[in-house]
Amino acid sequence: MKIYYRVFYTLLVVSLLASCNKQPVKSTTDAKADSVLALMTLREKIGQLTLYTSDWDVTGPTMRKGYQTDIKNGDVGAIFNAIGAAYTRQLQQLAVENTRLKIPLLFGYDVIHGHRTIFPIPLAESCSWDLDMMQRSARIAAEEATAEGLHWTFAPMVDIARDPRWGRVMEGAGEDTYLGSKIAAARVKGFQGDDLSAVNTMLACVKHFAAYGAAQAGRDYHTVDMSDRVLRETYLPPYKAALDAGAATVMTSFNEIHGEPASGSHYLLTDILRKEWGFDGFVVTDYTSIMEMLYHGVVADTAAAAAMAINAGVDMDMQAGFFQDKLEQLVKAGKVSEARINEAAKRIIKLKFDLGLFDDPYKYCDTTREKTVVMNEKFLAEAKENAKRSIVLLKNENNILPLNKNTKTLAVIGPMANTRKDLIGAWSAAGDWKKAITLLEGIQQTVSPATKISFAKGSPIDADSTQYLAEAIAKAKQADAIVLAVGEASWMSGEAASRTSIQLPAIQRKLMEEIAKLNKPTVLVVMNGRPLDLSFEDKHFKAILETWFLGTQAGPAIAEVLFGDYNPSGKLTMTFPRSIGQIPIYYSMKNTGRPYESDPGNKYVSKYLDESNYPLYPFGHGLSYTTFAYTQVKLDKTSITSTDSIQVSCTVTNTGTRQGEEIVQLYVRDLVGSVTRPIKELKGFTKLDLKPGESREVTFQIKPADLRFYRKDMRFDYEAGEFEVYIGTNANTTNKAKFNLSVAE
Ligand code: NOJ
Repeated sequence: MKIYYRVFYTLLVVSLLASCNKQPVKSTTDAKADSVLALMTLREKIGQLTLYTSDWDVTGPTMRKGYQTDIKNGDVGAIFNAIGAAYTRQLQQLAVENTRLKIPLLFGYDVIHGHRTIFPIPLAESCSWDLDMMQRSARIAAEEATAEGLHWTFAPMVDIARDPRWGRVMEGAGEDTYLGSKIAAARVKGFQGDDLSAVNTMLACVKHFAAYGAAQAGRDYHTVDMSDRVLRETYLPPYKAALDAGAATVMTSFNEIHGEPASGSHYLLTDILRKEWGFDGFVVTDYTSIMEMLYHGVVADTAAAAAMAINAGVDMDMQAGFFQDKLEQLVKAGKVSEARINEAAKRIIKLKFDLGLFDDPYKYCDTTREKTVVMNEKFLAEAKENAKRSIVLLKNENNILPLNKNTKTLAVIGPMANTRKDLIGAWSAAGDWKKAITLLEGIQQTVSPATKISFAKGSPIDADSTQYLAEAIAKAKQADAIVLAVGEASWMSGEAASRTSIQLPAIQRKLMEEIAKLNKPTVLVVMNGRPLDLSFEDKHFKAILETWFLGTQAGPAIAEVLFGDYNPSGKLTMTFPRSIGQIPIYYSMKNTGRPYESDPGNKYVSKYLDESNYPLYPFGHGLSYTTFAYTQVKLDKTSITSTDSIQVSCTVTNTGTRQGEEIVQLYVRDLVGSVTRPIKELKGFTKLDLKPGESREVTFQIKPADLRFYRKDMRFDYEAGEFEVYIGTNANTTNKAKFNLSVAE
């Protein structure tokens, strides 16, 4: 070890001195990475470009045997799915004690919504619109993950998603580019903190680059095809926002786009990522996507696949093993330049320096820290707070909610009422579902001791059995109020979990029908990983609470909302359709040449014969136990120039009887453009906390730069013309004013 470091530092000093005379001064880690690179053989460099899974966890279709041997041979630079301070130390030792240059391994893992303390699924958390809170949950996830030996999370997933059939909508921030970009940045800041060398921060990996969320028909891994304008305007900004926030790494996506698999796309990985955006971290493939290029049919053999990926701009091969097997011979044959290998290896080594791994490869393998940090009380409290704020009250006719804590007899019914396994949702990392608190337990902790609670499962989640139904009906009949918890099992969303139906399983419908017939005050609690078609539920129930998968603290969080200890404030970040036939449906659609609203009675307008055009619950929708009134939107002027900005304001009043939070949303419509523009685009939001009777004026500032888009000539810029600006409680708001932007030619 000592000899190695002496050689290394001598080289470092030499390279630093050399750089003083010739080039601009390099960052210290940059120069250090160069000095290590200078010592490496081609094979050792290729080793750094290789990432394999351990057998600790399974997150894909292949498992490589003998990764320990690869580590000892220096044929692998990073490992994923190995966690724990002791286990990562063991593997790190294999690298540091056996390889010639003792280059430490990088440990990656899918730390998506918490590590051990599981937070709400990202789609749920996005419904809080609370950027600080999302940053904090990513911070806590990094605290726990780094205490278990990890350096690198495969998050945030920032794929814009507008098709709820796609199971991975649960992992992102919903349908909107503006909000998705803000959330992407917040999550990166949370994971990475201010200093990568700190022991509690980790590398973020923005994924999946690019446009993975636009899979045709919502089928996972399916083809993506879209114009460059849509790609750049709708899908790319969240990745860019994550990189602007400092994300150190990027993961490619499985899909093809523009006829090219993303992992072989020079356009995405070099032209956009490196040349346009100046990204200088490293790019890793998603799982075996280099191998999958054979199935895509753009290469005929493994060598061609490896060459295509590295030449397109991939730096690290996750799990395919093609770099390890083919790059050496490809360099020798002149099909891949050694300069390209050097560039990739240097990016990886540099980040290992940034993390401090060369100073102490075992720095993250501290079993004492692991014990004190993981799942501590503070983290659990934050997870509960976060869960409460992620809940969306979809409907509350006759103020059925909040329920009275002194209700004499409460029936808690349904397959989700006492499930533990499903609460932490998909992609719950190292989370232990056994530690989650169920809804029934949460209710038991919250109601008055005098309340009699009866529980019945009512139905399975998905299996076809009516064996639990009679008991549930009998118990519900005895109750003064009913909490009916229905939903999807956690395996029904996530990766490779697309559905052609987005309704709740038929067996649960049967249960809902029977309970609804009783005509008792009933609250429907829905747990799920995607927007569902809740038309049936909306018809049968007066109160519906969307609770997603809320993580370790789901039960107490839902109970606090049910009984009014917390007044719900979440707002949907994905549109809920009335039926699957409306998909894709999102608030920022285009107007068409025959908008329905232009002549609703006419046959020849854009509409369906059998369904309304409008969603069941729009983007931005979410109720509170209080009510809010908005005054007419006011502008400080009605016309601006390129150097100006406009103030848009509105007063919001809490008109109900309880304190409550309201997410106030700002939308803009560009009325005439050189290309068609969406009917509304989110441009700002703020969260107000108002006491009963309290009013607050909200002011947003809009600058011409906020009005930019990809014009007909593909220049990202604004155009002169008229704009409508809206402030309201959801994307359906009609509260608007008009202004004009003039641009000097
Ligand atoms: C495949 C998933 O698409 C990706 O998001 C994940 O990070 C990798 N597997 C590793 O588990």
